[in-house]
Amino acid sequence: MTIRRIEARRIWDSRGRPTVEVEVTNDDASVGIGIAPAGASMGTREAAELRDRGERFKGLDVQQALRGIEREIAPALLGRDAGDQAGIDATLVALDGTPNKARLGGNALVATSLAVLHAAAARARQPLWQYLAQGRSVQLPLPQIQIFGGGAHAGRRVDVQDFMVIATGATSFAQALEMTAEVYRCAGELMAARGPLAGVADEGGWWPDFKRNEEALDTLVAAIERAGFVPGDEVGIALDIAASEFGSGGQYRLALDNQQLDSDGLCERLVRWVERYPIVSMEDPLGEDDEAGLVAFTRAVGHRVQVVGDDYLVTDAQRVRGAARLGACNCVLIKPNQAGTVTETRAALEVAQALGYGTIVSARSGETEDVAIVHLATGWNAGQLKVGSFARSERMAKWNEGVRIEARAGAPGGFAGRAALARNR
Ligand code: PGA
Ligand code: ZN
Repeated sequence: MTIRRIEARRIWDSRGRPTVEVEVTNDDASVGIGIAPAGASMGTREAAELRDRGERFKGLDVQQALRGIEREIAPALLGRDAGDQAGIDATLVALDGTPNKARLGGNALVATSLAVLHAAAARARQPLWQYLAQGRSVQLPLPQIQIFGGGAHAGRRVDVQDFMVIATGATSFAQALEMTAEVYRCAGELMAARGPLAGVADEGGWWPDFKRNEEALDTLVAAIERAGFVPGDEVGIALDIAASEFGSGGQYRLALDNQQLDSDGLCERLVRWVERYPIVSMEDPLGEDDEAGLVAFTRAVGHRVQVVGDDYLVTDAQRVRGAARLGACNCVLIKPNQAGTVTETRAALEVAQALGYGTIVSARSGETEDVAIVHLATGWNAGQLKVGSFARSERMAKWNEGVRIEARAGAPGGFAGRAALARNR
């Protein structure tokens, strides 16, 4: 059973920007569709997107990426077995020939790789998560859900990028969403009561109309309480500091707090937040180039909170191994388009799991109706899932897919719950 047709087309993402969709059809007419998401706060070592530049759509069109798929990728993959993901991904990497996938584009590669994966699952007549699980006892992931959006996703209104919650008291995926829905609504009510509610940010979180970063944290705690939950026990706070967005070379500028901090200063500030607030997870607390800072922060609080590497680890197995040798972070954010292929994404996840690191499969700020990552998180038994807030259909489509998976048969291992959170032993 082989690949009979590959079509590439331009579709549009949740920010109204062009992106790449690939449709793979097998001999038996089974079909798989893969779509490239897009980040706004990207790590410098991510697989590079191929964009056209120039005037059209602010330079973001993807005609060159589509041409590469039609002229080079499709001819190389026609007649191949869609079930041979590793072999096909190796072909994609070799065809591109650059270390960061800049020639054919990480966007072209990831859309193709995901389409092949979907086509293989469709041919096997299995839901994607089940095809990936291959009979293993996997669990539905613990969701990490944004309440306020900030940083690059909200005109830098606040410095911290994601103010999220994790329903640590939930015993099912559906219950985690129920609890989050109440917190999200209460947070919106509190903001409306305290000042203008200015709409939502790129991932659907409330637009952060705050005067200080800590005001966002205070409001989040108040929202958890207003929703009737015990902060930290039933609902914990997760932050994505995305520190590379406001600092490099060990110097950070918190614009909202009008403060310039060095690596130690930012580390101390964040440790204080961990002590004062019911924080259970913190992502990219220091810049991607501040390895010493990341090690220091992990040493200070890694036994009580999850320390997540995103821009720093860029879904790269080698970098995860390096971080583990140093003791930086205890959890890895897994984004397929950072790696560029399904096989490399899975390798990063498996290395993390083998090293005892937590794993969170994550969407990007530029998304579509595509729900593949929910299946990856479940089928790969990642334990956790991050897809943005609790509004806007490119986000809700993913949460709803998790509800469906759980309602239909449930993952054989049930719901991952709070045990999925990483902490250093
Ligand atoms: P991005 O941000 O998709 O805009 O890069 C998401 C994140 O930092 O986790
Ligand atoms: Zn991040």
